[in-house]
Amino acid sequence: TFQKQIPQGSKRIPGPRGYPLIGNILELGTNVHLSLSQMSKTYGDVMMIHIGTKPVLVLSGLETIKEALVRHGEDFKGRPDLYIFRHVTDGQSMAFGTDSGPVWHARRKLAQHALKTFASSPSLTSFSTCLLEDHVSKEAHHLMAKLQEVMLAKNRLDPYLYLMVAVANVVLAMCFGKRYDYDDEELLHIVANSEQFVEGTGSGSLATFIPFLQYIPNSNMKKFKNYNQEFNRFLKKSVQEHYESFRKDHIRDITDSLIEESQKQKADAKLKTQVPTEKIVNLVNDIFGAGFSTVSTGLSWSLMYLITYPKIQKKIQEEIDVTIGRERKPRLSDRSLLPYTEAFILEVFRHSTFVPFTLPHCTTRDTTFKGYFIPKDLCVFINQWQVNHDENLWKDPSAFIPERFLSANGKEINTDEREKVLIFGMGKRRCIGEPIARWELFLFLATLLQDLEFSVPDGVTVNMTPLYGLSLRHERCEHIQVKARFPNKMD
Ligand code: HEM
Repeated sequence: TFQKQIPQGSKRIPGPRGYPLIGNILELGTNVHLSLSQMSKTYGDVMMIHIGTKPVLVLSGLETIKEALVRHGEDFKGRPDLYIFRHVTDGQSMAFGTDSGPVWHARRKLAQHALKTFASSPSLTSFSTCLLEDHVSKEAHHLMAKLQEVMLAKNRLDPYLYLMVAVANVVLAMCFGKRYDYDDEELLHIVANSEQFVEGTGSGSLATFIPFLQYIPNSNMKKFKNYNQEFNRFLKKSVQEHYESFRKDHIRDITDSLIEESQKQKADAKLKTQVPTEKIVNLVNDIFGAGFSTVSTGLSWSLMYLITYPKIQKKIQEEIDVTIGRERKPRLSDRSLLPYTEAFILEVFRHSTFVPFTLPHCTTRDTTFKGYFIPKDLCVFINQWQVNHDENLWKDPSAFIPERFLSANGKEINTDEREKVLIFGMGKRRCIGEPIARWELFLFLATLLQDLEFSVPDGVTVNMTPLYGLSLRHERCEHIQVKARFPNKMD
């Protein structure tokens, strides 16, 4: 066991005593982010727990996490071999897979390059800042039309699935150059069931850590596997279509650029790291998977906060009215002109921390960290939620106050405060979609709030208690009202 590997004379890593076989499972409970944040107050930023018999190092505190993921980046960049992760992209996922060597590194670079080409490149067909602006702007208008249509028919709605489809359509536009209708059965099935994915992959999810549970028939596990198979089938079909219509002189989207790259690699025998064709082309699964569920969760939480705090919603709308007006649509280049909107998004990131832990890490070699001996292959949780609610870093962390991110004159973002928010991870495994995610949330929100007002009828409140998983979701609410702010505006 882990304890036996500790060289004599090393300090023991503090942590709660566990029971035989189940370890600290009882103390973890269902809200793992809360219980581990609480425990870190007793045991400190470097803490050892056991989930079942599996030892897990839990890191908290912004400086400690920076020290591990940035200054000791090589040591902490691994991914553990967790049973449940073997089902993501047939075990070939760049994000969830156990590889952290040269092939992972080459794949990460290829995915980053493809994203850059098909998100931040200038659009050739319009005057927008970049392709991402085109996609989001277009999709936000489809979304607004759909919300208003449903409102007209039912006089109330639950926007959750429409938001999911809208965000999925933006990633699908980048990956495959196509969009789906809001009632497309196939896409709806993929987005509506994504909670089966986030519940299964949440840090602390039991089947992942207690090996014998895999052998017990378990309906959640079955659902998880089925969901992943369905997800893979859905994407494979589009990839196949791309192979069939691929033309070297006309690279249409991310999938084409990945196919092109895999052909280049095959032709170049001198390449230091050869990445197999399949491992290049299936990067589109990582990009689509990571790109739709996170951003749509963030957008949906944003609406919940806007409904809960109507005064904050008004303030954002006033900022948009004064800066952009009604005559033109918001653009990405408006972002720096709308500091209050930006502060709101930062406060949603901080307060909700809807990605409470990064994906689990593991150590790639024996190392010494803050005076402790840490063996190779030790599973590591990074508690982002703790950082964003740390009383040493934030005044009144449980209050929702966008103003905390504004400079004294209220006209700019306070960059020191911004840098303390941890939701995209940091270091070698940092999210590669971060800039896209930030731009996308900004433009969706600014576009929606320019024209629409979101509320619930008197007497209804939305439940803001999060449901635990890889990303935290909120309870759905069917009573949301969407009103046009300027009903007579001709669009
Ligand atoms: C990894 C957060 C959006 C692609 C991650 C990680 C986090 C994260 C916490 C794990 C970091 C770690 O393990 O240390 C988020 C949040 C998002 C978001 C909060 C939205 C608000 C996106 C988007 C894309 C994307 C839009 C792509 C279009 C990825 C990929 C990885 C990743 C490919 C795996 C990187 C690796 O393992 O090397 N993200 N993400 N993410 N993200 Fe994101």
